[in-house]
Amino acid sequence: MIRSTLEKILPTLRSICADDRVLIDTASLQAYGVDRTTRWQPCPCAVILPNSIDEVQAIVKCANTHELPIVPSGGRTGLSGGAVAKDGELVLAMDRMNKILDFNPIDQTIRCEAGAITQTIQEYAEQEGLYYPVNFASAGSSQIGGNVATNAGGINVIRYGMTRDWVVGLSVVTGAGKILELNRGLIKNNTGYDFRHLFIGSEGTLGIICEATVRLAPAPPGRSVQVLGVNDFETITEILSIYNSGLCLTAFEFFSDLALDKVLKHHKLPAPFTVRTPYYVLLEFEHKDDRDLAIALALFEECNDKQLVSDGVISQNQKQAEKLWRLREDISETLAPGKPYKNDISVNISLMPDFIRAVDELAQQSYPDFEIVWYGHIGDGNLHLNILKPDALSAQAFNQRCADVSIQVAELVAKFSGSISAEHGVGLLKKDLLHYSRSDSEIALMRQLKQVFDPNSILNPGKLI
Ligand code: MLT
Ligand code: ZN
Repeated sequence: MIRSTLEKILPTLRSICADDRVLIDTASLQAYGVDRTTRWQPCPCAVILPNSIDEVQAIVKCANTHELPIVPSGGRTGLSGGAVAKDGELVLAMDRMNKILDFNPIDQTIRCEAGAITQTIQEYAEQEGLYYPVNFASAGSSQIGGNVATNAGGINVIRYGMTRDWVVGLSVVTGAGKILELNRGLIKNNTGYDFRHLFIGSEGTLGIICEATVRLAPAPPGRSVQVLGVNDFETITEILSIYNSGLCLTAFEFFSDLALDKVLKHHKLPAPFTVRTPYYVLLEFEHKDDRDLAIALALFEECNDKQLVSDGVISQNQKQAEKLWRLREDISETLAPGKPYKNDISVNISLMPDFIRAVDELAQQSYPDFEIVWYGHIGDGNLHLNILKPDALSAQAFNQRCADVSIQVAELVAKFSGSISAEHGVGLLKKDLLHYSRSDSEIALMRQLKQVFDPNSILNPGKLI
C-alpha cells in the first residue's frame, strides 16, 4: 500500500527536491534504511535529501496528506534501531543540510544545520579557541540532529553532561508540519514549557530537527589518562571516590580483560602493562600544572596500598593518551562484526556495587555458555553488557535467548530504580522494556504528547512508544 502511495506522490516529492535528491535505487534504500543495529532488514520505499527547512516542511506536509510514514535519518550510528526503516517508510535524510550557519564569539555558540557532523563542530570550536565537549567514538560520522534526537552522551559526561546540556536553540518541523523556533539561543528564558527539551531525546517521534544552536565551553586544560588493573569488579566505585576526592575527572570508564583481549587482537596493539587483571579502569583528568600529576600518582598509591589496583600506567603525552583511549573506544567497533546482543543500562552510582553484583550473578546463571563482554561509563552509572553469539547458534535462537534474559535484566534495573536505556535510546530495540523504567502514567502522557505534535503518527511510527 505504501508503495502505491509512493508512486502517487513521487512527482510531488520530486517537485520539492530535485530528482537527484529523491533516491529509489536498491543500494541507497539498503544503506539509508538501517542504523548500526543488525536485527532488521532495511526496506524503505524511498530516500529524500532536503536542502532547507522549507523543503522539510513541504515533505512532512505531503507525507501527512498521503499518510506516508517518515523515518528521520542522521548519521545512522544509533544502536537501538531508532533510524531503521523496515516497513516501506520514506527516509528523510539530513546529509545535505550539513552547514555551520553561524559562530557567535560573544554568546560562544555555533548554529548549524542538523546534518552537521559532530567532529566538524568540535573542530570548528577548537579553531575558535573553544570546545564542544560532547564526544564519542562515532563523532566522525554522527550528525548533530541525531545527537539531539537521542540526547547523545559519550565519554565526557561526568565532566560536561549530555547533549541536552549544550543545546540552547532548535528549529524543528513538527509531525503536523509546523516550524517551531525553540529557545533561540537564550541562556535565561522562563516563559513556560520548554519544548526544546521535549524534542531532545524524542527520537524523531515528535518532529524533524533541522537546526541546532549549541553553546561552547572554554578550551580545556591539558589532560592525562591512567589505565589501572583491577581484580575486583565491585571495588571500582571505591576507586572512583578516591580519584574524585583529588582530581577533576573528565572520564571514568571500565572494561573487562575479555574486552581488552579482543581489541588488542583486532588492532594488533600492545597491552597497557604486562600483568593482566580481570578488569581495567581508564580514567582521564584535567591538569593545570604538575601538582595535578603529583596528585594522580598519590591517588594511585592510595589505591595500591588499599589493594584496589594491581598495576597502572599514565600517559606522558597526547599521543600516549590517545593510544590508551583506543583500548576503551575501539571495543564497540571490534565487537560489531560478531553482532553482539547489547545492554545499555544505568543506576545511581551509589547503587553500582550491589547492582553490578546482581547483574553479574544473573549473567553467569543465564549465559554459562556465552562470552560476556563488560565495559561502560562507570563514572555516570552506565554499564554496557555485551553478549557474544557462539558460532554454533543461529542468530535467531541467540537473539531469542538474549531477549528472554534481558527481561530479567530489566527487572533488576527496575528493582534498582535504574534505566533500561542509559544513552543509546529506546528505538525499536527497547520499546517492549520501556515500562521497566517509566510508569504507565508517564507512557500514557508520552502517547498524548505524540498525538499533539504528530497527530497522524507520520514520524518514526513504532519507535519509542
Ligand atoms: C560505547 O560506550 O562504546 C558506546 O556506547 C557504544 C557501545 O556501547 O557499543
Ligand atoms: Zn557507551
